[in-house]
Amino acid sequence: MFHRTAPVAEHVALADRTFRVRLRCPEVAAAIRPGQFVMLRLPGTTDPLLGRPFALYDTVLDDAGTPVGLDVVYLVVGKMTGRLAGVKSGDALEVWGPLGRPFLDVGTPDRVTLVAGGIGQTPFLAFARELLGARGYGGDAPRKRAGSVSLLYGVRTAALAAGVDDFRAAGVDVHLASDDGSVGAKGYVTQLLAARGKTGPLVGCGPEPMLHALAKVARGWGVPCQVSLETPMACGVGVCFSCVAKVATADGGWDYKRVCVDGPAFDAGQLVWG
Ligand SMILES: Cc1cc2nc3c(=O)[nH]c(=O)nc-3n(C[C@H](O)[C@H](O)[C@H](O)COP(=O)(O)OP(=O)(O)OC[C@H]3O[C@@H](n4cnc5c(N)ncnc54)[C@H](O)[C@@H]3O)c2cc1C
Ligand code: FES
Repeated sequence: MFHRTAPVAEHVALADRTFRVRLRCPEVAAAIRPGQFVMLRLPGTTDPLLGRPFALYDTVLDDAGTPVGLDVVYLVVGKMTGRLAGVKSGDALEVWGPLGRPFLDVGTPDRVTLVAGGIGQTPFLAFARELLGARGYGGDAPRKRAGSVSLLYGVRTAALAAGVDDFRAAGVDVHLASDDGSVGAKGYVTQLLAARGKTGPLVGCGPEPMLHALAKVARGWGVPCQVSLETPMACGVGVCFSCVAKVATADGGWDYKRVCVDGPAFDAGQLVWG
């Protein structure tokens, strides 16, 4: 794990209140794998005091193919993300990472279906590129693992859909859903998934009720399903226990797991939903 002060190379709007910040951070970019995250903190301030967790959107390569930077895509929801939106190219952010574990192994299926809600699409771009063999991460050579990758992406309204072009450019088959019907199918993304019918392994990220609904669909179909949790975190490195999730144990009970070090991706069938 590295702790660096990283210059902002680029900061652009992708959608309503949604931005992509590009950080020059070669050591983290060379080591991080899809599913892992970084903690970002605004330097020179104690408000907010703590960093906040953000998924790897993708790494940035130089002309020789060497990872030199990181992209993070974020939605403005509160204090830190509100201030982050005011950061400019040439400013710096404190970065800790890579943190957490990569996505769980999905094997080599014909198709992997990624199911995202809200800002839950962010961990999936690098994962899709890895699954399709377009990119290797953490020093690995590219290796094709899935025949195809679909993204089912649900948003409240069209203006919040962020990064759709990035996914299409990466060769992902994208299908949208929106609560108000302003883009894609009207309704929840899990309804869109159910309407499209049984598919292979499922990977979810988004609000907990969506992930719980996804876990039920997966159980009904009898297909593997992992979900990446967006639990609020204080330390990000396993010390404070502010990020726990309930996970089933072999004796029929449950125990707490720390999302920051044991996740953020968990087998959906192992989680005890609240
Ligand atoms: C592993 C991981 C990866 C993440 N990746 C991304 C990402 O790629 N892009 C992105 O935009 N966000 C991501 N998040 C969520 C992000 O960390 C929060 O949005 C951020 O911490 C909000 O900070 P803030 O100071 O702006 O909001 P705060 O001022 O701390 O909170 C504002 C409001 O948001 C609520 N809130 C804060 N964090 C969360 C949360 N995690 N879940 C639900 N409600 C929350 C608070 O209860 C409060 O109502 C991720 C979270 C985790 C754990
Ligand atoms: S955030 Fe501190 S233990 Fe997970």
